[in-house]
Amino acid sequence: MVHIANPILKNGELEGIKEVLDSGMLAQGEVVADFEEEFADYLGAGYAKAISNGTAALDVAMKAIGVEEGDEVITSPFSFIASANCILFQGAKPVFADIKENTFNLDPEKMEEKITDDTKAILPVHLFGQPADMKAFVDIAEDHDLFLVEDCAQAHGAEFDGRKVGSIGDIGTFSFYPTKNMTTGEGGMVVTDEERLSEKADLVRDHGQSEKYTHDMLGYNLRMTNIAASIGRAQLDRLDDWNDKRRANAEMLTSRIEGIEGLTPPAVADGVKHVFHQYVVKVEDDYPLERKELREKLHENDIGTAVHYPKVIPEQPLYKEKGYDGREYENANECAEKVFSLPIHPKVSEDDIEDMLGVLEV
Ligand SMILES: Cc1ncc(COP(=O)(O)O)c(C=O)c1O
Repeated sequence: MVHIANPILKNGELEGIKEVLDSGMLAQGEVVADFEEEFADYLGAGYAKAISNGTAALDVAMKAIGVEEGDEVITSPFSFIASANCILFQGAKPVFADIKENTFNLDPEKMEEKITDDTKAILPVHLFGQPADMKAFVDIAEDHDLFLVEDCAQAHGAEFDGRKVGSIGDIGTFSFYPTKNMTTGEGGMVVTDEERLSEKADLVRDHGQSEKYTHDMLGYNLRMTNIAASIGRAQLDRLDDWNDKRRANAEMLTSRIEGIEGLTPPAVADGVKHVFHQYVVKVEDDYPLERKELREKLHENDIGTAVHYPKVIPEQPLYKEKGYDGREYENANECAEKVFSLPIHPKVSEDDIEDMLGVLEV
């Protein structure tokens, strides 16, 4: 079976874990600090703070920039739910704007129309490994004096105009869930160039503790363990090679899918380095099979698929209950109806790709 995700482990990871176990220092300590430094260096960011998972990293970022009740934050309706829930956690209001249909990312023009006096921040998501249009978002954030937060959960190593995502806005967040381009088991990271924001993130993740048993603010325990960080360090060493393999796989698929009537391969925007966290294909009306039928056929041929995402966030029961109506986001809805993801991770071989194409080329 070619699974939709399949992390590569057990190389440097085992040695790293053994060293941590031998040291007896399991909780956040030196290994976490080393991982933070290496991750910040990799991105070209000033500071990185390791967090227990990507959802918590978004929550920490929102708190670091001071989002609170009465504020609005604009994000994408076509993402994993955490991209919007981090706003709800603050008692603030998530505001959605439609995406661009070809890149699946937040449309800057549509986003700008949603800015009000209450808007505090904008939160583009670099979905499926493709950077959002950061030039436009940086300009809009500056023009309207807004914080720019990057959700990079799916885009480790992706670049916009030669800069790594996460290092472009005021603050960026990552997830290291096992399906991601690199993992720590569960884990996350907050990155920023601003010392003030990094200090706040540090407090939020550790009981608001500025010194041992001195608590300046309300905080949680959202720390990463040394065990998780040791896995992350080994993974970071190989991230670029894995991303190259994802891109090579994507090129192979796209060159052939372009020739199949009724299937639209994922677009790559100009000036970006896409890291293909997911390879997302659109099944158009003139394809001989419906999305469901095509996915069933792929599964019968031992090829795993997934739908990222079958429903726009404001159409989720949680949001409908709050009075949201997701139907206005036409492009996002169209994608939710038509897309599905094929395996693209570094363990996918040329033979696997031929097998996929054999099913797609009906
Ligand atoms: C875009 C996006 N944001 C945030 C998250 C949350 O990360 P985690 O699962 O580590 O909490 C994810 C995870 O899938 C994600 O895809």
